[in-house]
Amino acid sequence: MDKIKLTDNLEVSRLVHGHWRLADWKLSNKELLKFTQQVIDLGITTFDHADIYGDYSCERIFGEALKLKKELRKDIQLITKCGIKLISNQFPTRKIKYYDYSYNYIVSSVENSLKNFGTDYIDLLLLHRPAPYFNPEEVAKAFAHLKKEGKVLHLGVSNFNVQQYEMLNTYVEGKLVTNQVEISPFCLEHFENGNMDYFLKERIKPMAWSPLAGGEVFKPTDVKGIRIVNALLEVAFELNVDSIDKIMYSWLLKHPSKIIPVIGSGKIERIKQGIAALDIDMSLEQWYKIYNAATGVELP
Ligand SMILES: NC(=O)c1ccc[n+]([C@@H]2O[C@H](COP(=O)([O-])OP(=O)(O)OC[C@H]3O[C@@H](n4cnc5c(N)ncnc54)[C@H](OP(=O)(O)O)[C@@H]3O)[C@@H](O)[C@H]2O)c1
Repeated sequence: MDKIKLTDNLEVSRLVHGHWRLADWKLSNKELLKFTQQVIDLGITTFDHADIYGDYSCERIFGEALKLKKELRKDIQLITKCGIKLISNQFPTRKIKYYDYSYNYIVSSVENSLKNFGTDYIDLLLLHRPAPYFNPEEVAKAFAHLKKEGKVLHLGVSNFNVQQYEMLNTYVEGKLVTNQVEISPFCLEHFENGNMDYFLKERIKPMAWSPLAGGEVFKPTDVKGIRIVNALLEVAFELNVDSIDKIMYSWLLKHPSKIIPVIGSGKIERIKQGIAALDIDMSLEQWYKIYNAATGVELP
């Protein structure tokens, strides 16, 4: 599988495996290691986490599996996120959910992630969400410290808009390397808010979370969803492709901004659908058939 260069010394796989739902998969350490090895053998070497996934448990679950085969660490790229403070039994004194991008919190969150994963470096740290209370100087100081210590190699963001991205970029050492946002026919927000144009302008390769709309495409709940599924079925028929998830991935992969889908399935057969999508040659007309079904209107 191709790699995508996010910056001079960071390459990720063309598809990323997301571990948001990892705790639900209920795999033993051995089963998770086996599953991870299968994913790697398919060419997916980049794994997406966040401190908060699985009520703060997913990093540790993955770390336990990695411990069974320590040499795997050098073959993979670990992404994790920080900044969201959840109400959780892990933090009984916390009364509300809020965001914290202070120097101390970022550093302590990363130290904790390193411990959870059983590793001494994170390839890519993402700030999970933009925040109304945000001090970019603190973020820059935390990243400079973590980078100097070799604990975080690269910094990016998630769910930022153009202004937020540009603002932070003026503070941090080097450049932010990506923005992980929701993109699928079910979420066209970033085609409409300027982000996609900005990615192209700056040669930023975005990551797409919930590329299958979190599974909604398999059980659409409204008229828009049904319209999208009908368009996907039509395109699948035209291309002689046997499932709509392949068409969903192919729609993302075709875009010139080099969108990197973050696959969320816990089943190897379903991850293979993403791999198969790499060989689909969707026409521009088919791409727009899906886009137009999503907006519900013809282009002007
Ligand atoms: N940055 C952010 O704010 C943010 C937010 C959300 C997610 N993320 C990242 O993005 C990753 C992907 O998100 P996601 O999990 O929502 O992605 P997704 O790939 O859109 O959805 C995955 C869900 O779809 C189900 N699914 C897949 N194929 C299916 C099929 N053929 N039939 C029925 N159900 C099917 C999966 O169930 P099975 O496991 O049973 O296949 C799983 O529940 C996450 O793991 C996380 O790393 C980031």
